[in-house]
Amino acid sequence: MQQTLIDHIGQVAEDVVSLVLRGTGGPLAPWEPGAHVDLALPNWLTRQYSLCGDPADRESYRVAVRYDPLSRGGSEYVHRFLRQGRTLDVSLPRNHFPLLPAPEYLFLAGGIGITPLLPMLRAATGAGVPSTLVYAGQSLATMPFVDELRSSHGERVRIVATRQQGRPDLAALASALAPGARVYCCGPASMLAAAEEVFPADRFHAERFHPKGRVFAPNAPFEAVCARSGQTVQVTPDESLLDALSHAGHPVASGCREGVCGSCEVTVLDGEPEHRDDIGAPTGRMYPCVSRALSPRLVVDL
Ligand code: FES
Repeated sequence: MQQTLIDHIGQVAEDVVSLVLRGTGGPLAPWEPGAHVDLALPNWLTRQYSLCGDPADRESYRVAVRYDPLSRGGSEYVHRFLRQGRTLDVSLPRNHFPLLPAPEYLFLAGGIGITPLLPMLRAATGAGVPSTLVYAGQSLATMPFVDELRSSHGERVRIVATRQQGRPDLAALASALAPGARVYCCGPASMLAAAEEVFPADRFHAERFHPKGRVFAPNAPFEAVCARSGQTVQVTPDESLLDALSHAGHPVASGCREGVCGSCEVTVLDGEPEHRDDIGAPTGRMYPCVSRALSPRLVVDL
């Protein structure tokens, strides 16, 4: 964790605040476009937010938080209680949504999904790669960073206020996609699903707020061996590996508990995990908030 101070907190759209978090102990850890951090909120909740500032700025991070009326306490706390001058612990940045090289980019943002794409657009255009951003939201008032995008990127940015203009025509964008161009998309599930239908899968990259609806085989029991202590933990069908480990005295840091943020990553030393996350676990790792085991026994590095 890195300690930061809330240097600035301000409204950037209806129901969206941005926070500038300044490191209190020297330069903050470096990051690349697409990265996110966990904020350890004072109410004991941990929440993930994409970094949307400038990676060249090692003094501060910027994140933006939309108030979610169905908030489980994270965005509500940020909006109601966080104030300038408070300290906040922030994790090291993680990046499950890296910007891969391409001859051209199309960025598709829906609402608060603009946050990871904002530094991507800056990086792409800074590197001289032709790039277009299509940024949709219900109305201009609900869309953060519109002025910043227009003043920095002008014609490259197409703002679509869907209540007046309707949704962007993704099929038309797909048919006009340049050969080899990559598409980066972040927004609500409906937008991601529509985009997935029309863009080539090998060049389509999405970051999800929530997991894809998928069906898995019924949960089976298995055992997890914690290699460092030698303790064996029984995981019943009705609990997650994360909870079973925690109940057995091996708490693992977690955030989303839905397999989308990556904060609960553990190393698997033996056995075959059944990956149920939406991140794409690297070889030898798994996300125990959702993932289980295909083998009767897993050995984890705990
Ligand atoms: S807690 Fe987010 S992936 Fe497990």
